[in-house]
Amino acid sequence: MKGLILSGGKGTRLRPLTYTGAKQLVPVANKPVLFYAIEDLVEAGIEEIGIVISPETGDQVRQAVGDGSQFGARVSYILQPLPLGIAHGIHIARDYIGAESFVLFLGDNFIRGGILPQLNAFRQQAMDAQIILYEMQDPSSMGVAVLDHDMRVQRVVEKPQQFISPYAVIGIYMFTTAVFAAVSAIKPSARGELEITDALQRMVDTGHNVRAHLLREPWIDTGKMRDMLDANRLILEMLDARMSGSVDEHSQIVGRVVVEQGAQIVESVIRGPAIIGARAHIDHAFIGPFTAIDHDCVISHSEIENSIVMDGSRITNVRDRISDSLIGRFVDIHQSPPTPRALQLMLGDHSQVGVL
Ligand code: TTP
Repeated sequence: MKGLILSGGKGTRLRPLTYTGAKQLVPVANKPVLFYAIEDLVEAGIEEIGIVISPETGDQVRQAVGDGSQFGARVSYILQPLPLGIAHGIHIARDYIGAESFVLFLGDNFIRGGILPQLNAFRQQAMDAQIILYEMQDPSSMGVAVLDHDMRVQRVVEKPQQFISPYAVIGIYMFTTAVFAAVSAIKPSARGELEITDALQRMVDTGHNVRAHLLREPWIDTGKMRDMLDANRLILEMLDARMSGSVDEHSQIVGRVVVEQGAQIVESVIRGPAIIGARAHIDHAFIGPFTAIDHDCVISHSEIENSIVMDGSRITNVRDRISDSLIGRFVDIHQSPPTPRALQLMLGDHSQVGVL
């Protein structure tokens, strides 16, 4: 079996970060969200992995993942010239997949607990496709599946206007090569994309055995800031404490905290779960629970909690506590001079700032 990870797309919901970077490389507990997908595949014994990339962010993905050997995988790249849909990503991977079955993993999807239970079910029962469902009170913003009493899929509807079932289709799928005929047969939707829901419905309509697996573990689509912070919390909760940096005697480390090599904590309080990346410098600061500070950041005379700070950023002398924030790379947040009393901002398009 092979793995196929989609790591292209537009990432409009994560602007401005996605103007300069791939959303799949935004770190969750200081590790790109894409790496968790690769690790889930390798853990399930799938080492041949194709990654679909876009012309805009493909080079960054290539640079971060390389040939896959750091994960124990062999990674190939498939260029998708335009983001023409998830089913289009399958279509262009046809030669790479060949005659094998495969797991399709959307590169921004995140589940705790891996994919082994689902993969075993797919292998043991003779089916053409398996989707994974997440029960939600209101799944109306997602693809939704209607099942028969035997977990066989009868209908898949994208963003249904009326409630048809509580089962949202998440971004991890298992297919035999039967899917290729379905993606070749469907037409682009109103938004101009080849939709995975249409491909699944086509498989059902042509008599293929499409089944569902209900997920009991948490699942997060990290397409929006809130979801990134949720995923960050989920991983930090499972972290084992580790101290590889230095902490002076005036600092306090409370709860589960990882301090990476070369990081320095001076006269500060770190309240876990939290992670402080390599060579970060924290002085006279409070780092609160569920915060991930990436490598080479400086946090000085400031307070921050429940946030992700990407590498190389500086937060200095900020009086108000920063909370629930996603801060990109090489960002500089500092105190403005006391007069005139005004906020001085330089923000990219689509930035979001909440002021007191
Ligand atoms: P989406 O989050 O559905 O789409 P998007 O990346 O364009 O983001 P947004 O809605 O915020 O504009 O994509 C799910 C995953 O699939 C994500 O990892 C990107 C990837 N993808 C592709 O690789 N090619 C595509 O054509 C599309 C639509 C998505």
